Amino acid sequence: MAILVTGGLGFIGSHTVIELLSSGYEVVIADNLSNSEISVLDKLKKLSNKTIAFYEIDVTDKDKLELIFLNHEIDGIIHFAGYKAVGESVVNPLSYYYNNLMSTISLAELASKYDVESFVFSSSATVYGDNVSPFKEDMPLLERTNPYGETKAMSERILSDYSKTEPTKKITLLRYFNPIGAHESGLIGEVPKGIPNNLMPYITQVASGKREKLFIFGNDYDTPDGTGVRDYIHVVDLARGHVAALKKAKQGINIYNLGTGIGVSVLELIHTFIEVNQVDIPYEIVERRPGDIAVSYADTSKAERELGFKTVKTVEDMVRDAWRFEKNLIK
Ligand code: NAD
Ligand code: UD1
Repeated sequence: MAILVTGGLGFIGSHTVIELLSSGYEVVIADNLSNSEISVLDKLKKLSNKTIAFYEIDVTDKDKLELIFLNHEIDGIIHFAGYKAVGESVVNPLSYYYNNLMSTISLAELASKYDVESFVFSSSATVYGDNVSPFKEDMPLLERTNPYGETKAMSERILSDYSKTEPTKKITLLRYFNPIGAHESGLIGEVPKGIPNNLMPYITQVASGKREKLFIFGNDYDTPDGTGVRDYIHVVDLARGHVAALKKAKQGINIYNLGTGIGVSVLELIHTFIEVNQVDIPYEIVERRPGDIAVSYADTSKAERELGFKTVKTVEDMVRDAWRFEKNLIK
């Protein structure tokens, strides 16, 4: 069974490639290296000891993309390729809409033409907006505050409408909560370009001395310690969730949260990082970040019931693995 993994050299894609290969799938990667390095491919080959077909192409280019379907018998697609920086999406909305929507449409067209059975899409908890946690898959989605989030909600809609025209296909929308951590080998992980927007890569860069201190965006939220609460999920667990989705998804449209169901505050994550890794993280409390919500965590019961998916890694594993990867980067 060959699975086309778009964005397979990125943070979540690379970890998913490893899980797919170890579950016996053949993998074909399409990535344009806009937010990843080609060296990741060698690391994936080294970690898996398997061959991986790789195409350096832009997934929005349907003609080039079609070559893959002509060269390989593709049974499933996992579509990670996309831009993901919220702030950048406010500054460059058109490039976000173009990249994130055209890639999804081109892939869906080819999935239809080449009769691909499964299509798994990387969505985000951001589509829930400021709902009350735990977020449940059948909740009405609330307004998104930025173009990035909008591309996720629009892609979900596009794929839902596509599914109505081909009801025998298995289409799965996975709403990720906050993926952090890294592969335990320390070889692959998250490498943000420029100043990290997200909490975990910022923490690891403060720990390594690349940045002087962490800025905590607000301690006056209605949460136990006043800082924002999120559902952090280890990227290896998240990757396993994709294999479960491929194996168990039903015909039609399937939506699943991938999270742990546990809310962790900014201060709790920092203190766990300090205790587990025995490094200091200087921080300062500053203003809230516009668009942030107080609390976001998943109701995980549907993924557990229907996919048999349950996370196994702890927050301690997440901070240990994230730090191991960052230390390898500075070696
Ligand atoms: P990433 O940037 O590390 O990986 C994305 C990969 O896609 C990169 O390797 C990039 O080079 C490639 N890419 C981008 N546009 C492309 C195009 N047009 N053609 C070919 N390749 C292209 O991001 P990630 O964290 O691994 O996220 C993967 C997916 O999951 C994204 O769609 C993202 O929006 C979604 N997601 C991520 C998070 C998160 O916190 N990381 C949360 C929710 C959803
Ligand atoms: C981010 C994305 C969101 C995406 C989600 C899942 C932004 C604005 N939003 O949200 O679209 O769906 O990831 O991966 O990027 N924090 C600090 N200091 C920092 C960075 C973050 O205090 O330097 C706080 C935030 O206020 C928040 C928590 O840490 O309370 C987590 O932030 P982050 O890692 O950016 O994730 P989300 O805000 O959930």
